[in-house]
Amino acid sequence: MDNNFDLVIFGGTGDLALRKLYPALFMADCDGRLHREGRIIAAARQTLDDSAFRTRVSEALSRFIPSMVTSAGEARVAAFLSRITYLALDATNVEQYRALKASLNERDSQTVFYLSVGPSLFPAIVGGLKAADLNTPDTRIVLEKPLGRDLVSSREINDLVLGAFAESQVYRIDHYLGKETVQNLLALRFGNTLLEPLWNRSWVRDVQITIAEAVGVETRGEFYDSTGAFRDMVQNHLLNLLCITAMEPPSSLDPDAVRDEKLQVLRSLKPWTRESLRENLVRGQYRAGLLRGEQVPAYTSEQGVAAGSATETYVALRTEVGNWRWAGVPFYLRTGKRMAERRAELVINFNPPPHSIFEGVLAPNRLVITLQPEESVRLYTMAKAPGDGMRLREVFLDLDFHEFFRERRQDAYERLLLDVLRGNATLFMRRDEADAAWRWCQPVLDFWAAEGGTPIGYAAGSWGPPASSRLTAVGGTAWHEELQL
Ligand code: NDP
Ligand code: BG6
Repeated sequence: MDNNFDLVIFGGTGDLALRKLYPALFMADCDGRLHREGRIIAAARQTLDDSAFRTRVSEALSRFIPSMVTSAGEARVAAFLSRITYLALDATNVEQYRALKASLNERDSQTVFYLSVGPSLFPAIVGGLKAADLNTPDTRIVLEKPLGRDLVSSREINDLVLGAFAESQVYRIDHYLGKETVQNLLALRFGNTLLEPLWNRSWVRDVQITIAEAVGVETRGEFYDSTGAFRDMVQNHLLNLLCITAMEPPSSLDPDAVRDEKLQVLRSLKPWTRESLRENLVRGQYRAGLLRGEQVPAYTSEQGVAAGSATETYVALRTEVGNWRWAGVPFYLRTGKRMAERRAELVINFNPPPHSIFEGVLAPNRLVITLQPEESVRLYTMAKAPGDGMRLREVFLDLDFHEFFRERRQDAYERLLLDVLRGNATLFMRRDEADAAWRWCQPVLDFWAAEGGTPIGYAAGSWGPPASSRLTAVGGTAWHEELQL
């Protein structure tokens, strides 16, 4: 059984809390992973009593994890809801932190403050916690992304938070690091000897990391329009996946051992030059199109998006990790909204055989690690096709984690919330990592700001602008779906 806790969620009525945080906590509770006296305190401005708020959470559970709710039954849901209390608190009013302090002081438990609010509220909350003496050394604070919109603002936020809390108390969330298959990537790389000898420039031709989404900007048009795909996805999720892929084996799974290795990757990313910014970046924006047979609107017609907006909803880029292991190996990253399908995957393309004794072309081996929608690892190899002669055909060895492991998979937020309650920071970004990621990203933002212009249009339901295929073609390769069987 884990420690007793008080989890205070600022922004407790918000979309993220209702859609992700309470469902994750409920699932952990159903598995018996929450201390039986652990409490969740939701804080936001609206005036609500506990009962009205619990009804809202109950509706959210039924909406977002209906099958879990049905199989758990009413009694389990009621027991979970009884952990939750609601506190009407305007985060900008320093006086109101007294009520929060009073409720926390009654108990001896691990206190966690989860800032599920926009970063503009971070100064007020950190100030309020400090003024009420709630930033004691045994508390923890969780920061939701985005942590700033550029290098300068992210540094300001980090300075502010670290003015009240020690680095060891700060948990910067990137939910991609909590995904099961990202954990599996660590297991695959460092729990087996098979791949390690091949995991370098001698054998790998290129690496591709894709996070494609079929959804548009949904209800977050206003936020997204001032953010764009690069800040929303590349600066954090894609770079974290790249780090886990490219890092050296850490000496242990200790938080700093892992994060030190990730940091080395970020520091080794090839610095941008004017030429590479021009040649290695593609930004796109979705136009109206057909997605799974349904007509969907253009980005600029979405609610909350400025007419004529030049915000990118798609980014593809080529970079390199400048170290002995990876020098010369292109890393292609891409992400986009309203793409042909929801798919997050890592593709390692190996070098082609140096000499062929068979008829026809030999496709190079490919290792495809899919994070979502399914969780699988496929190794594409050449095999003899049945019949006369020695014609080879590409086939794959398939490891489907759902078939192998029947247990319920933890959701990313569930894992990360449990890690915070237990004090395990391995899957959270340290300040120097966040800083290094922004440092590498800043020239791209500066380049686009200076260049002006508009992103290239791509039809909703497609795989992005044709320019992204040219990006890989120049490097003598192609995106994974273009190579599919
Ligand atoms: P919402 O706008 O849905 O929620 C904001 C929350 O903050 C509400 O609970 C609101 O309640 C509360 N709030 C606003 N002002 C104050 C205030 N002065 N005092 C106290 N509470 C306040 O945002 P999201 O939940 O979508 O996002 C929260 C953060 O998480 C954002 O930074 C977002 O970028 C990030 N994020 C969101 C994701 C998502 O999928 N939604 C994914 C990843 C990150 P009230 O108005 O009642 O005060
Ligand atoms: C969030 C982004 O961090 O990740 C969203 O802000 C995006 O724009 C989401 O949709 C994708 O997460 P997942 O887990 O659904 O792939």
